[in-house]
Amino acid sequence: MRNILVDTGRKRYCIHIGAGLSNKTGKLAAKLTGTTKAALITDDNVDRLWSEQITKSLENAGYKVSVHVIPNGESSKSIENYIKILGFLSDNKLSRSDTVFALGGGMVGDIAGFAASTYLRGIRFVQIPTTLLAMVDSSAGGKTAVNLDSGKNQIGTFYQPDLVVCDPQFLSSLPDEIFRDGCAEVIKYGAIADRQLFTMLKGPIGEQMEEIIERCLAIKSRLVFEDELDKGPRQLLNFGHTFGHAVEKCSGYAVSHGKAVAIGMVMAASAAEEMGVCDADCRNGIREMVISFGLPYRTDLDGTELLDAMISDKKRSLEEMALILPEEIGRCVLKKIPVKELGSLMRAAMKVGDA
Ligand SMILES: NC(=O)c1ccc[n+]([C@@H]2O[C@H](COP(=O)([O-])OP(=O)(O)OC[C@H]3O[C@@H](n4cnc5c(N)ncnc54)[C@H](O)[C@@H]3O)[C@@H](O)[C@H]2O)c1
Ligand SMILES: [Zn+2]
Repeated sequence: MRNILVDTGRKRYCIHIGAGLSNKTGKLAAKLTGTTKAALITDDNVDRLWSEQITKSLENAGYKVSVHVIPNGESSKSIENYIKILGFLSDNKLSRSDTVFALGGGMVGDIAGFAASTYLRGIRFVQIPTTLLAMVDSSAGGKTAVNLDSGKNQIGTFYQPDLVVCDPQFLSSLPDEIFRDGCAEVIKYGAIADRQLFTMLKGPIGEQMEEIIERCLAIKSRLVFEDELDKGPRQLLNFGHTFGHAVEKCSGYAVSHGKAVAIGMVMAASAAEEMGVCDADCRNGIREMVISFGLPYRTDLDGTELLDAMISDKKRSLEEMALILPEEIGRCVLKKIPVKELGSLMRAAMKVGDA
């Protein structure tokens, strides 16, 4: 078992990583929470595959378990389902000493975390991520959310879990496409902060999965430690995301998050090369890596529309935009670009096809 301690200054918790570890979820959680009531929140796909195993583990450790299943898919990350979860917690009379367990990908983790953070002003919360993206990204760091019709993640809290149990065995049932989306985030971690991880990704990754997840989470936990509320260094995790979110939005969300981030990373690297922040080798390295995972590296969407989407993103200031740009593989910087210079940068970013 590999362990990572996340310390935000306000809260410390452990991420345990290990194949087969989810069978010990009950034992690991009971050490922290005592054995009280457990509300297991999951989606229908994950429920069919993995709920029984986790329920058994929790019951064997002495928890009284009730399971709430929501339909899979991003559209379930809604206010309506959030209210249903609150109703479920209330109907089952969960108190503040009881625990919400999120079993699933980032969708389940985000909405269950939001419910856990607001029900009774916050009850115990354990993340059991089942997608690669959730393992390396959304399960740790404490961002919770639901979507509004007007946009993704418009309502949420910062609420750190009490424990994360990360079992790569869940990946055995993950469809290839969804696994690949998670790989884009893994490439991101290598590109921003861990050259050795980036190099590992050039070989077969199956046997190295635990170490890969550990390396990603080590970076995330360090950045969360430095900047829990996402006002400074944590923004490095947005590498590929500023362009990526624009691609997601302009495609009407037909391009998945992982694929959009893959395109976004290559666009950011192309912009960085144009600005003299990185050289062509760095840009090509990122592009080749994206291609080697079967991820797209360019888009036919219109550059002007992408730029408009970037500028209208809710997190932007009006005069300048913070872009995360690679200096070399394993090192990125945050650069504030005046909005009036973004047009020419976007043209450079769109020229990703050039070798
Ligand atoms: N909180 C954060 O910091 C953070 C960070 C990144 C992304 N997110 C959020 O995460 C969500 C995306 O997460 P995701 O990519 O994990 O998607 P997801 O949770 O929607 O899961 C994708 C699909 O995989 C299925 N699935 C999950 N685990 C499975 C398994 N082991 N075997 C078979 N099928 C399985 C799900 O049922 C679903 O159909 C978005 O809502 C995004 O906003 C949050
Ligand atoms: Zn992402």
